[in-house]
Amino acid sequence: MKAIVYKKYGSPDVLHLEEIEKPTPNDDEILVKVHATTVNRTDCATVRAKPFFMRLATGLFRPKKKVPGTEFAGEIETVGKNVSSLKVGEKVFGFDDDGSGAQAQYLTIKQDKAVTIPDGVTYEQAAASSEGAHYAYNFINKINLEKGQDVIVNGSTGAIGSAAVQLLKYFEVNVTAVCATKNIELVKSLGADRVIDYTKDDFTKDGKKYNYVFDAVGKSSFFKCRQLLKPGGIYISTDLGYMAQNIFLPFITPLIKSLMGNKMTVFPMPVDIKGSLALVKKLVEQGDFKAVIDREYPLEKITEAYRYVEKGQKTGNVVITVKH
Ligand SMILES: NC(=O)c1ccc[n+]([C@@H]2O[C@H](COP(=O)([O-])OP(=O)(O)OC[C@H]3O[C@@H](n4cnc5c(N)ncnc54)[C@H](OP(=O)(O)O)[C@@H]3O)[C@@H](O)[C@H]2O)c1
Repeated sequence: MKAIVYKKYGSPDVLHLEEIEKPTPNDDEILVKVHATTVNRTDCATVRAKPFFMRLATGLFRPKKKVPGTEFAGEIETVGKNVSSLKVGEKVFGFDDDGSGAQAQYLTIKQDKAVTIPDGVTYEQAAASSEGAHYAYNFINKINLEKGQDVIVNGSTGAIGSAAVQLLKYFEVNVTAVCATKNIELVKSLGADRVIDYTKDDFTKDGKKYNYVFDAVGKSSFFKCRQLLKPGGIYISTDLGYMAQNIFLPFITPLIKSLMGNKMTVFPMPVDIKGSLALVKKLVEQGDFKAVIDREYPLEKITEAYRYVEKGQKTGNVVITVKH
């Protein structure tokens, strides 16, 4: 089969299209004929092994998994003997941030990291539906979100931000979205109640107060956003922040919360892939979620896709189409 292969960490130049052996599923795995995958920020971080500590999981000196990729959509070709939830011939999509080897014509994956694609949804749409939504949902399910609360989402046009706006509206909260002028209509179409154009206004100076500040692009900090929070409000970022402060602040801010107006930082660890996929599938079926797609590239041009995604300016998701 054709696959993107990398044997050392580095820039997108380390990625090469090669002919390799088709994988064989274990007893609890499925073999998927991949029709679409994506290049996302998780893939970029994995290929560069940045931040460095990622190597503890991906391989200290060189990548343990030779084929990159996390999100996929395709058709089940074979199932292992212990697979009960999925059948040969079903169209599925899924995700594994530990690496699913999706940037290839075939992959194998455990049955709980894939779900069937709702009728009428293309492989391209399905492939782009999981990574951003998974991280956004793992923000939402770590807090006690209540109907009618106020949330501001910075970076509302990224993969995570565009998913967060849609999920937050599903949970019936009031969403203020921060984006550039060119994307104002897009974020309104995703459900944002109010929009701040960051090219014209500094959102951290907004007069409105929020229960939650969600920095989905990691460009702010708890200290810059503190004044936006209501008493008891929570700041969450998708990024480690300057000197990895967002890892430490969740331990420090509860200790000094009386000095901070009872405001805190939370840094959620995204673990529940099964829960995220089940929710996304339901919302896609109900018409409450649609992945935003910026561009599509063929598998053969994947290095161009990586270079584009690494700029940090994609709108939603970048899809890779896989031909057979
Ligand atoms: N380390 C990891 O494994 C990992 C994995 C996933 C995500 N993340 C982190 O999560 C963050 C979001 O990822 P993502 O994939 O959702 O992002 P993304 O798709 O790369 O998108 C970034 C979006 O944010 C917008 N943006 C850029 N600068 C902005 C600013 N100053 N204010 C407001 N919006 C701005 C961009 O739009 P314009 O340029 O048009 O304004 C773009 O649409 C990233 O910071 C990434 O580091 C990390």
